[in-house]
Amino acid sequence: MTPEQVDLVRTSFDAMWPIRRDLADLCYNRFVELAPDARQMFGGDTEKQRKKVLDMITALVASLDERPMFQSLIAISGHKHAILGVQPSHFVAMGEALMWSFERQFGASFTPELRESWHTLYATAQNEMLRATGRHSSF
Ligand code: HEM
Repeated sequence: MTPEQVDLVRTSFDAMWPIRRDLADLCYNRFVELAPDARQMFGGDTEKQRKKVLDMITALVASLDERPMFQSLIAISGHKHAILGVQPSHFVAMGEALMWSFERQFGASFTPELRESWHTLYATAQNEMLRATGRHSSF
């Protein structure tokens, strides 16, 4: 990612923090529409579903800071997700749900540049998580 893209993601993360619960709900609901077979992995508790989405968004943004350290954490998390049964198609659906919820929540301020920055960040993390378990997919 370029330094400009990193800045864009960080600024948007600050802006989303106060409304993170709404954003997480939008993302989760869209995700289970796209990947209904993954619903059971999240359990029935709304608060916990929200937390999983927010853990993901926070991990993505944190991975911008210290690449080598976060690369290994992402790889470990990749193994954990594989053990949970998360499939490459679920990663693709989650990426789509995330972009969709940003668009819904931020409207015109989710500019094409911002979209591209988040897309690059998510796709990089997804690829690292899948590569760690010998799999791949594109989003
Ligand atoms: C790049 C994409 C993703 C990132 C960075 C990410 C990151 C994380 C993090 C940091 C956690 C909490 C800590 C941990 O348990 O490792 C977590 C938990 C979880 N994630 Fe993801 N995640 C991603 C994609 C997905 C997808 C596509 C699914 C689809 C089913 C998913 C399902 C879960 C579940 C079920 C948990 C809870 C695990 C538990 O209960 O122990 N994640 N994720």
